[in-house]
Amino acid sequence: MAESPSAVDVRAQQCAEVTLRPATVDDIPALRALGEAVVPPTYGPIDAAYAQRMLDEWWTAERFADTLPRVRMLVAERDGQVVAMSSFGRLSASHRDFPHVTGDREVMWKLYVHPDHHGLGIGSRLLAEVESMTEGDELWLEVVDGNVRAYDFYVSRGFREVERVTDREWPDDIWLRKPLGGAR
Ligand SMILES: CC(C)(COP(=O)(O)OP(=O)(O)OC[C@H]1O[C@@H](n2cnc3c(N)ncnc32)[C@H](O)[C@@H]1OP(=O)(O)O)[C@@H](O)C(=O)NCCC(=O)NCCS
Repeated sequence: MAESPSAVDVRAQQCAEVTLRPATVDDIPALRALGEAVVPPTYGPIDAAYAQRMLDEWWTAERFADTLPRVRMLVAERDGQVVAMSSFGRLSASHRDFPHVTGDREVMWKLYVHPDHHGLGIGSRLLAEVESMTEGDELWLEVVDGNVRAYDFYVSRGFREVERVTDREWPDDIWLRKPLGGAR
């Protein structure tokens, strides 16, 4: 009788069924739907108003149409469905203000996996791809204070906390950095 595959084999096979590719304008409705699926469970327990603000500001069709030409964006597809995405690029190309930063930074702005597809290695694959496509010797990212799962995920993959940006109204942003290249 054939042996049943282990959980590790199943996970590896499920991850192998996932393809990564650059996002296009045709993906915008799927990106919005991904945001609706992943943003509320991620940030709602931290601050429900903040979760809604994120969706309204950063996950709209207009915002994606504006950022796609300026930011590098990857999607992960499984069975023809967009199940995850990541965006990254230079801090100076962003529309946001970062008064605490001098100089420029390579930043991964987003890494989001649909909750039905967590734990299959998709986030790790996207992160590795972003690291390999990043020009420069370090990669930065922000984690919202209280997003412990994401924080632990990044620390286990070589990121270290550098600074915290406080905001009276909203949760703090914690900036993490990972050396790339030889120290990867
Ligand atoms: C953090 C996140 C990107 C990780 O993606 P993923 O595809 O689930 O990650 P992987 O399968 O590659 O790796 C899973 C790792 O994350 C941990 N993990 C986090 N959430 C998990 C879940 N729901 N199920 C299983 N593992 C989970 C595991 O401990 C595992 O770590 P290990 O491999 O060191 O044991 C994903 O959980 C996510 O999209 N979270 C919500 C959005 C978010 O917080 N994004 C980051 C914004 S800064």
